[in-house]
Amino acid sequence: MSGFHTLSPAERLKLVKEFAMLDDEEAALLAKAGGLDLETANRMIENVIGETQLPMGIVTNFLINGKDYLIPMCIEEPSVVAGASKAAKLAREAGGFRASATDPVMIGQIQIVDVADCKKAVESVMQLRDELLHMLDNIDPILAKYGGGPRKLDARVLKTDGGEMVIVHLHVDVRDAMGANAVNTMLESIAPRIVEITGGRVVLRIISNLATERMARSEAMWKKETLGEEAIDNILHAYLFAEHDQYRCTTHNKGIMNGIDAVTIATGNDFRAVESGAHSYAAITGRYKPLTKYWKDKDGNLHGSIELPLAVATIGGATRTHPVAKIAQKILGVKSSQELAQIIASVGLAQNFAALYAMATTGIQVGHMKLHASNLAVMAGAKAEQIDEIVKRMIEEKNISATRAKEILEGS
Ligand code: MEV
Repeated sequence: MSGFHTLSPAERLKLVKEFAMLDDEEAALLAKAGGLDLETANRMIENVIGETQLPMGIVTNFLINGKDYLIPMCIEEPSVVAGASKAAKLAREAGGFRASATDPVMIGQIQIVDVADCKKAVESVMQLRDELLHMLDNIDPILAKYGGGPRKLDARVLKTDGGEMVIVHLHVDVRDAMGANAVNTMLESIAPRIVEITGGRVVLRIISNLATERMARSEAMWKKETLGEEAIDNILHAYLFAEHDQYRCTTHNKGIMNGIDAVTIATGNDFRAVESGAHSYAAITGRYKPLTKYWKDKDGNLHGSIELPLAVATIGGATRTHPVAKIAQKILGVKSSQELAQIIASVGLAQNFAALYAMATTGIQVGHMKLHASNLAVMAGAKAEQIDEIVKRMIEEKNISATRAKEILEGS
């Protein structure tokens, strides 16, 4: 879709409508700012008084496992959509992204305190784990019908400042759901039996957002001829900086989350769950590390990869109740939560590459300043047909400010 960024919003929507086979009603809903009626919003959360809005932009050029995608992003920050599109365009030259995802298995935790002998209690739970898993056989027939359900149960002793406790982990394949409801219901239903087995007292029964059994990975290559040796070397230096310095690493991972959150929000998923899981995983070795890796092959091409837990859904919650999130999924054409996780991981890698490439070459501010300048022109009162000229002049003059935008508009 070359030149997509030069079109008007209405022209872009027309192309996306054709690509994703949206009907007239869906296209109209996207065009209507907000798209979520207050009545639906009022059923989503409590005490609703209104809505806030984020722009939805379409990321182009993504080729993932041989399939073309248009990817909707909801974000307030300039350059994110453009950055991901550019990274994907350059990755396409070498076949695009190769992504994979594990089975969508979530972990639920049960905390048992006041246990007389924690070690013995753990042994007893482990001996009876088949019985505990069988108790859950019929608890979620719909999940079972789609091939999901409880997979594994483990117990361990946790030493704390307040004494020992027993922690039980239940692994559940939640298929295309985020899984919090399914897992929490299962935890609550086996908790009384666990009390009987351990002789203790259950406190928490809750899903863990560190979804290490629900991982997504993606990899891509960027050609030496395209990037140039200097840019590749600079990207590798930038990667090493993040690898060994937590201040830089936090910003490195923030750039990744720019893309990941934006698609997670567009598709109505729980971005707080994804964020907390990502950062926790980044620190899983005891040191906070980049979620991406970069290296050079023997021919000097740059390779990048990403790996992180991604608990994202294509069914349930706002993915189905938010009308715009539903359309975002239709634009993506995703068939499963695993496919969505593969897309989101690829976007995270692309976003990180885009930031590093920009910083290693022209610097990040060029793209940012263009959009910033256009915002200033709008605020100064410029009409649509005047904006480009005002932006061009402010950039040429290297004087991007509200005052200058007003001056140019007023003809000085
Ligand atoms: C800005 O939102 C994100 C970056 O700071 C990421 C990075 O520095 O890698 C550009």
